[in-house]
Amino acid sequence: MEDQKMFHLQQRKGRRVILFPLPLQGHINPMLQLASILYNKGFSISIIHTNFNSLNSSNYPRFSFHSIPDGLSKNEASFADMVALVSLLNVKCVAPFKDCLRKMLSNSVEGENVACLITDAGWYFTQSVAENLKIPRLVLRTNSVSYFLAYAAFPLLREKGYIPAQDCEPEAPVPELPPLRVKDIPVFKTDIPETLHQVILELTNQTKVYSGCIWNSFPDLEQVSFATLHKEFPIPMFPIGPFHKYFPASSSSLLSQDHSSISWLNKQPPKSVIYVSFGSIAAINESELLEIAWGLANSKVPFLWVVRPGLVRGAEWTETLPKGFLERLDGRGHIVKWAPQQEVLAHPAIGGFWTHNGWNSTLESICEGVPMICQPCFGDQMVNARYVSHVWKIGLHLERKLERGEIEKTIKRVMVEAEGQEMRERIMYLKEKVDLCLKQGGSSYQSLDNLINYILSF
Ligand code: UDX
Repeated sequence: MEDQKMFHLQQRKGRRVILFPLPLQGHINPMLQLASILYNKGFSISIIHTNFNSLNSSNYPRFSFHSIPDGLSKNEASFADMVALVSLLNVKCVAPFKDCLRKMLSNSVEGENVACLITDAGWYFTQSVAENLKIPRLVLRTNSVSYFLAYAAFPLLREKGYIPAQDCEPEAPVPELPPLRVKDIPVFKTDIPETLHQVILELTNQTKVYSGCIWNSFPDLEQVSFATLHKEFPIPMFPIGPFHKYFPASSSSLLSQDHSSISWLNKQPPKSVIYVSFGSIAAINESELLEIAWGLANSKVPFLWVVRPGLVRGAEWTETLPKGFLERLDGRGHIVKWAPQQEVLAHPAIGGFWTHNGWNSTLESICEGVPMICQPCFGDQMVNARYVSHVWKIGLHLERKLERGEIEKTIKRVMVEAEGQEMRERIMYLKEKVDLCLKQGGSSYQSLDNLINYILSF
């Protein structure tokens, strides 16, 4: 057995994988985690990244980093219209990426033994570059499989009149996509809906020609969706998630993480704190900030709240909160700009997570057995929230307008009432499934082995 392991490590030595993350926090984290997983399995790692949301290479001294100019102006580098941002990146990065990859492949040290390219699915222009340079391209999908299937069904949903949203009853089920209702269909606010439609078509068609697809998920979590995926997209699939459980908390954060979160949590009783964070892109308005603040205060439940600069439209940070808001709570609340989220969720004082249901946040919460309050804002978050509240039943969906009384009630339901305890039990059961899938003989463990052998076969 040991001999066989040595043989494999020897075989991988010198084989290099080139990775290209989409420059958004929720996409950078899983790509860098995947890089670390492959590095630990003996591969050499090169990362190509844009100047926009540039990576801090000093956190990964063993990887080689290559920065490319993305040519985005200050106005263009904005999260206001994500469809516009991603499609622009896919135009502006073509030449610099091609140039960088070509140079890397012809470099005697780095170019030798390159096994494959792994890009985020959002980099759809890279398929033709890879074909052109005759290098296999694997794709990392950073979302759930259930969301991908909803996304792939967009043309059908458009044909049936669900998109663009019309007068359909929001609570009505979408029979083509159970368990989604009309209001769970992923929405993207954009000024260029036709581009969005084209991109979705392109991405879905491409999924049939990738050399393979890597998922930050595992079949026991999304059984029905994985079965459909295998049927509709018969390419090599590698569900090896959840990535972040392969090693201790990683450090691909673009913002600096405030560790006072942990010292504050250390002073709180077990399972008493609600952690509130809406990820790296979602935005709210001033009046919503106030409703959240009063809902948290009135619930009497201790809270750790991430108010990211940029979270509140038109504000710098928390200046619109009433003067002395935190002081009046007598230490019951702590606000930070950015937290070490994985460490926070693993802290014994955490009892609940009020989240926007980005896929990373959702998975991180499941992995620590923390029930959720779901407040999806756009895209995949709508689908994730539906699965959390309706399929796995490990959270409550805050569906109505953000209002302090409703917020207070929902926090109490999750944090102190029997209903919350039941959700905690169900999520602990899912957490056990996570632990099992990563162990020898588990599905992710096996898929990772398959992925390694597949990369070595190129
Ligand atoms: C985006 C999309 O919005 C999301 O829907 C999609 O699934 C991935 O890309 P984002 O909104 O940032 O991501 O959410 P999420 O997927 O949850 O990723 C956020 C990441 O930032 C997580 O890994 C989380 O641990 C980290 N984080 C968040 C911190 O490190 N500190 C914080 O304070 C908040």
